[in-house]
Amino acid sequence: MSDLVLELNNLQTHFFTDSGEVPAVDGVSIKVHKGEVVGIVGESGCGKSVTSLSVMQLVPTPPGKIVGGEINFKGENLVNTSEKRMKKIRGNEISMIFQEPMTSLNPLFTIGNQLREAIRIHQKINKREARSKAIDMLRIVGIPRADAVIDEYPHQLSGGMRQRVMIAMAMSCNPELLIADEPTTALDVTIQAQILDLMRNLNDEKDTAILLITHDLGVVAEICDRVVVMYSGQVVEEGTTREILKDPKHPYSKGLIKSLPKIHEREQKLYSIPGTVPKPKMGRVGCRFAPRCEFAFDRCFQEDPELYSIENDRLSRCFLYDQKEGDRTENAEANIGS
Ligand SMILES: Nc1ncnc2c1ncn2[C@@H]1O[C@H](COP(=O)(O)OP(=O)(O)O)[C@@H](O)[C@H]1O
Ligand code: SF4
Ligand SMILES: [Mg+2]
Repeated sequence: MSDLVLELNNLQTHFFTDSGEVPAVDGVSIKVHKGEVVGIVGESGCGKSVTSLSVMQLVPTPPGKIVGGEINFKGENLVNTSEKRMKKIRGNEISMIFQEPMTSLNPLFTIGNQLREAIRIHQKINKREARSKAIDMLRIVGIPRADAVIDEYPHQLSGGMRQRVMIAMAMSCNPELLIADEPTTALDVTIQAQILDLMRNLNDEKDTAILLITHDLGVVAEICDRVVVMYSGQVVEEGTTREILKDPKHPYSKGLIKSLPKIHEREQKLYSIPGTVPKPKMGRVGCRFAPRCEFAFDRCFQEDPELYSIENDRLSRCFLYDQKEGDRTENAEANIGS
């Protein structure tokens, strides 16, 4: 389909460490269409950041390496793309914002300098015009005193302000894809909502596709059209945000949703999934979630579940959705409830 912006196809990114090979991204397939906001969720250590770094070809090598699969960006496989071409793609066709914008802003240059450069790559205008445009951009993203901030250095701004600058940069580049890795995690709730609004505007006005990575389902609910749930390097569930929040299918997604704070409930004690995300290991057999899953049965420890299709284009990597396990599924559905 021509409106496909990004397609990860069985992506495998491994780390070769002293203690062995770590399949951090273990066969991930994800599609992002034009104008779509896709969320990747999962607890810390699930492989979300390594997935996004793989797209940008920014996985630290060594120890990391893309060992298989494809990353098709508008039909071009980025896995085989030269560093020279990637430099053109990064920050132009694909923009990325991180949890800590200091890693992507250059501490040695003023905000204006960096923003002007970004603008001038895309528009043939002189320095003065670019400066005035940069000030406009800073105003659009809600930076007060924009005409003073433009001459300041990144370290002089708060985290929220730096994140706004990153979004202003992304907007002036007019990328086809914005990858945001935990962009609001370090920010307080009010600023978080404002940053999400800015991303939503970018998506609405320019039809920019967004791949939003977060451990926070609240953020997903705010902005994403579709959600991909990752666990231990694999996609375990996929569906529309609405369906996944209302009716999660995979036991891991159910656990994530159960641990969301509920505004209307007085009870303050939050549920959390027992145990932790296991470090990915080579040659592991069985469902990665089995040691933590309350529905696990023998087969879960003996075979790897595939991503089973369920109704409405939904996918769930769980034997409970294998037709062969039909009876068990019905029982589980009845037991799991919500
Ligand atoms: N530089 C690295 N060297 C070795 N292992 C790494 C490195 N970076 C990430 N990993 C491993 O990859 C897995 C996924 O990490 P990451 O993508 O950062 O998780 P998330 O973003 O979902 O919290 C983890 O198990 C982590 O140990
Ligand atoms: S395959 Fe088994 S262990 Fe894995 S999520 Fe489903 S029921 Fe739980
Ligand atoms: Mg991460």
